[in-house]
Amino acid sequence: MKIVFTKDYQELSLLAAQLVAQHIKEKPTLTLGLATGSTPIGMYQELVKLFKNQEIDFQHITTFNLDEYVGLVPDHKQSYNFFMQKKFFEHVNINKKNIFIPDGLTQKPTEYCAQYEQEIKNRDGIDIQILGIGRDGHIGFNEPGSPINSSTRVVNLDQLTIQDNARFFDGNINAVPKQAITMGIASILAARECVLLASGTAKAKIIERTFTGTISENIPASFLQMHPQCTIIVDQAAASLLKSIQSSQ
Ligand code: PGA
Repeated sequence: MKIVFTKDYQELSLLAAQLVAQHIKEKPTLTLGLATGSTPIGMYQELVKLFKNQEIDFQHITTFNLDEYVGLVPDHKQSYNFFMQKKFFEHVNINKKNIFIPDGLTQKPTEYCAQYEQEIKNRDGIDIQILGIGRDGHIGFNEPGSPINSSTRVVNLDQLTIQDNARFFDGNINAVPKQAITMGIASILAARECVLLASGTAKAKIIERTFTGTISENIPASFLQMHPQCTIIVDQAAASLLKSIQSSQ
């Protein structure tokens, strides 16, 4: 596990985008796992800039998003589908056929989730998976208690997650969906490379617990310690409780 310390959100976003761009240059048919939330927004902006400067071509890549709320139509302003269109897809030359985002409206969740896993396998797995982290240690929507062998499935959201995400729903906790479809811990760990982004003081405590504590279902992100190719990109604020590691690097 490699921890990359950056000075601020801007530098974190640029580094993450450069890392993705480098991978696409090396493999134009890259399969890229994507995340939503506020943290990767800067990375998407930097990727769009690289595209506009003709430094990167998304034409042949495939993307799989980690998760989606259950019950939101794709053009609901808080759906992750809408987020991805607005923040990234509609600004670049990605082929719509190559975009996969869980369908939060599926009527057959078990079959649908198995199919999502199959689509990933059909593309020879995910090359690089971008991740954020929740204050409860979730990755995707794998909340505490998510087992290491979990695959794509419907989950109930933690109260802390609902509370944290209410800011996107005009602060109305009742408007936040209570369930989501998420890729599982096993689906994430199967990616050839994982890159977790964390910014801001609100993430300092969970970053410290995740990467200096023991591996446990109680902090699903801690499973990343087992991944052979995992990079954590943090800004100073998120890394503020990792002082002993920082000073030894
Ligand atoms: P955030 O969410 O980027 O909005 O902090 C991260 C997450 O919940 O995974």
